[in-house]
Amino acid sequence: MIELSRKLDGSNDTETFARDVAEGLSQHQKTLPSRYFYDAAGSRLFQEIMALPEYYLTRCEFKVLTENRQEIARHFAKDSFFHLIDLGAGDALKTKILLRELDRQQSSFDYVPVDISGDAMRQLSSSLQQEMPAVRVQAVVGEYFPALEWLHENKPERKVVLFLGSNIGNFKPDEGRNFLKTICSYLNPGDKLLLGVDLRKDPDTILSAYNDTSGVTAEFNLNLLRRINAELGGEFDIAQFQHYPIYNPQEGVMRSFLVSRKEQEVYIRDTGRTFHFDAWEAIHTENSHKYSMQQVEELGKACGFRVETLFQDVACRFADVLFTVT
Ligand code: TRP
Repeated sequence: MIELSRKLDGSNDTETFARDVAEGLSQHQKTLPSRYFYDAAGSRLFQEIMALPEYYLTRCEFKVLTENRQEIARHFAKDSFFHLIDLGAGDALKTKILLRELDRQQSSFDYVPVDISGDAMRQLSSSLQQEMPAVRVQAVVGEYFPALEWLHENKPERKVVLFLGSNIGNFKPDEGRNFLKTICSYLNPGDKLLLGVDLRKDPDTILSAYNDTSGVTAEFNLNLLRRINAELGGEFDIAQFQHYPIYNPQEGVMRSFLVSRKEQEVYIRDTGRTFHFDAWEAIHTENSHKYSMQQVEELGKACGFRVETLFQDVACRFADVLFTVT
């Protein structure tokens, strides 16, 4: 396993978290960065979200990958060795569908999962060692770009990058474009990118996925405030905030907010500050973009890719798009 150092400025995780929270809550329109959703409790809640009847995304992508695994594996393999680079691999539940197939086809490749969580990468390496001992695994702990740069400099062979789960949708449009451009800059012509994207569909279906009746998504969103309380000495009264999601069908953007139910002041020890909330003032916590296929194609094209093959479910809810670097 390779650990790429993350911080160059000597600050620790808690200081960075406190700085990001203070900055977000000081804005005219308050915001909190979504990367802080995933502490231990948040990761557990997200696992629950993925199992919800309303949250179609994970099941759909699972199905798309399962039904098309042979064809996808053949597109990847192309009779020469390649590195399969999995950005944000986590427990790699979906990637394992492809790994099993590549293993079965005796493809010549190694698997390079990249994730910020060292624990996740250790667990994944050992579970793969058990399940697919023939698959060579080289886990990288770190942020995506340092990992891609490291690969670019140290592994000249062919590359196939996975960015699954519609995580691209959580970027702002210009950030998403820059992200794909940067990925492309670390690849060579003929290298590939398999991108998971959630497609535009009935707005009610989308809204329900972010507003489940059992309230798990609300807990997940509110957990951000719990985390601030636990790690930064925050004094949020969780009962005084509520989860509020809204889908804009023109922009194709699902937005999640935490709304203050009353006028209140909240002290957060590690920021050394008190933040004021008007009654019904909102904190923006997440954007999830939904795409039309035309937008996906244009996005890829603007970033140096062309669509090689499109894999989607029959209901056209979710697509895994195989791009080639031009
Ligand atoms: N990033 C995931 C998504 O956009 C996670 C997520 C699911 C999420 N439900 C949420 C983020 C609700 C914030 C609020 O699908």
